[in-house]
Amino acid sequence: MRSISITRPDDWHIHLRDRDYLVKTVKDVSRYFGRAIVMPNLTPPVTSIEEAKKYLERINRLLDSDSNFRPLMTLYLTEQMSDEVIREVKRSDFIHAIKLYPAGATTNSESGVRSIENVYPLLEVMEEEDVVLAIHGEVTDQNIDVFDREKVFIDNHLIKIRRTFPNLRVVFEHISTNDAATFVAESGNKIAATITAHHLLFNRNHLLAENLRAAYYCLPILKRDTHQQGLVKAATSGDSHFFLGTDSAPHPRFAKESACGCAAGAYTSHAAIELYAEVFDQAGQLKNLEAFASHNGPDFYELPRNSDQIILTKKSWEIPSHYAFGNDSLVPIRAGELVHWTVTG
Ligand code: DOR
Ligand code: ZN
Repeated sequence: MRSISITRPDDWHIHLRDRDYLVKTVKDVSRYFGRAIVMPNLTPPVTSIEEAKKYLERINRLLDSDSNFRPLMTLYLTEQMSDEVIREVKRSDFIHAIKLYPAGATTNSESGVRSIENVYPLLEVMEEEDVVLAIHGEVTDQNIDVFDREKVFIDNHLIKIRRTFPNLRVVFEHISTNDAATFVAESGNKIAATITAHHLLFNRNHLLAENLRAAYYCLPILKRDTHQQGLVKAATSGDSHFFLGTDSAPHPRFAKESACGCAAGAYTSHAAIELYAEVFDQAGQLKNLEAFASHNGPDFYELPRNSDQIILTKKSWEIPSHYAFGNDSLVPIRAGELVHWTVTG
């Protein structure tokens, strides 16, 4: 059986949720990831250093006593945030980014930014303090087709942000189009992008072509296969602009399979590196998995790379049909099917 050893990977974008749900999410993310950037879109969102500290403590309480996993916290950008909070983020040793959600773009984004120009003074402070800005890059205009919202965000906002704040470090989160991959690859070393396993493995046919499948509904929405192929090319290329961020975003079954709509979010944390290994293997680029999963992220965030290794073996296992999740259940990506890589050490 084929095995590879890589530097311990990190997940640079994850939703751990809160309360009862943390039991499952913390268990999964801490299996072999060294660190994870924890998204702040709780209800209410994490907007202050104190709330981030308390959230960190709730996560840490659920870690095994011998766990070396380290959550890296984030704050939720609002138009009301003060300059002083940004300066405190810089001084803190546990908050590593501030997340910009355009209001209405996705789950729990209602308190996000209504007009990007309104936060320009805050972006200026972030640039000055060298605090990383993580962006959900989709416009929210109801007149823009949902499949075009990422591209329009680049054209209407990201180009201008780059031009106005050339030294601001920006992570363009969970990119889903060729347009985003090309923009990032050609935009210098102050911008990088996370890519999810689900945007690499699937396209909109998986979501729409047979039955409408709730597990695949996420935002940014899955695009056509040419975008999927472009993302695979970018992720597996070894280019340091791209790194692993699962955007694993669990929703209980009642919120996914509900008469009044389907919550956006795909759960991949149960098999994250295993699914990425499949993508790199299929592309014939396993040699670049380590750069994407374990090197490019810490290099961009200016944190040390992990110093130990994990072993991945090409051995299949079956993903359960569902997991217990609070009082409900959680249907993961690939439920009831095989994944072809296993973490064996
Ligand atoms: O599909 C998504 N789910 N995209 C996001 O940006 C947020 C996430 C969530 O929090 O459920
Ligand atoms: Zn997310």
